[in-house]
Amino acid sequence: MAKILLAVFSQSGATISVAGRIEAGLKSSGHSVHTIPIEKGSLSELNEYDAVGIGTPVFFYRLPFLVSDFIRNLPLLKGKSAFWFCTYGTVPGKSFRQIHRLLSGKEAVVLDGFSCRGADYWYGYTKRGYLFNPESPTEEELFSAGVFSSEISRALENQVHSSPVPPDKTPLAYAVERMSMSRFNVQTFYSRTFRSKRVLCRECRSCVTACPNQNITFVKERPRWGTACIMCQKCAQSCPEGAIRSVADGLMFAPIMNFNIHDAKKRGIPYVHVEHRAGQTRVL
Ligand SMILES: Cc1cc2nc3c(=O)[nH]c(=O)nc-3n(C[C@H](O)[C@H](O)[C@H](O)COP(=O)(O)O)c2cc1C
Ligand code: SF4
Ligand code: SF4
Repeated sequence: MAKILLAVFSQSGATISVAGRIEAGLKSSGHSVHTIPIEKGSLSELNEYDAVGIGTPVFFYRLPFLVSDFIRNLPLLKGKSAFWFCTYGTVPGKSFRQIHRLLSGKEAVVLDGFSCRGADYWYGYTKRGYLFNPESPTEEELFSAGVFSSEISRALENQVHSSPVPPDKTPLAYAVERMSMSRFNVQTFYSRTFRSKRVLCRECRSCVTACPNQNITFVKERPRWGTACIMCQKCAQSCPEGAIRSVADGLMFAPIMNFNIHDAKKRGIPYVHVEHRAGQTRVL
């Protein structure tokens, strides 16, 4: 039986619930499984494992930078098996292809991947009143995750070989949006636009705690943003006073968010109306 490391990033809970189902499935097949959060993951003991599973949400039609960095920083996985699972809201873009290729690049045998929808708490949509896939992962999607874990278990036992690289089916408008959210743009330009309104900030530090990349420090009782930003907007979303502003609140993003929402509705993606107040998203 294999010793498996599951490394998971989950900001709003969808990916970790899929991870839970996969972990339970693998354990029930007799494997030993250890799950770590990617944002706090220690890589020192990787040699002890036979296989690595990476779980991640999709951010801006690709992997969140902290997940792609995590995989790039892994030692070579020669002789080990790997698998991945992604949750996404509306358009997964190149994420499946990217994670498959990153793991292959580490010389792992990439057994397979699993994807399903997850409730989409992207602030660009929730602050405009929309929560897509509110029920996901549904019981049916979690059941499929369990089936996936059985397939991984069989592949590990039989040394079945790698799956084909998934295609990148990103529609053009979203590919352009992805380009605009490049690491260069985020770190050089967008990350420098974060501010907290002095009159509103009550120094509660919720933004500091919420940031998955430790990108916010407190200097002279005010939050200060660094450049290691993944543009997740969790800081702004979790501020109880609504004090945080950035380029994402400006005129540049509004037409893009409105187009995305319109397109998702047109494609029949389920949604509920929500309101965001005092750092909380509430279904109306
Ligand atoms: C910053 C951010 C960017 C996102 N970008 C995309 C995207 O490009 N495509 C997509 O399908 N979903 C996108 N989503 C939605 C998430 O991928 C989806 O809701 C996922 O299930 C969240 O997983 P989690 O709950 O484990 O964090 C985004 C969400 C956030 C917070
Ligand atoms: S979460 Fe908002 S109120 Fe709290 S410290 Fe950060 S900016 Fe200030
Ligand atoms: S958007 Fe805010 S919470 Fe997200 S990485 Fe950047 S600073 Fe951190």
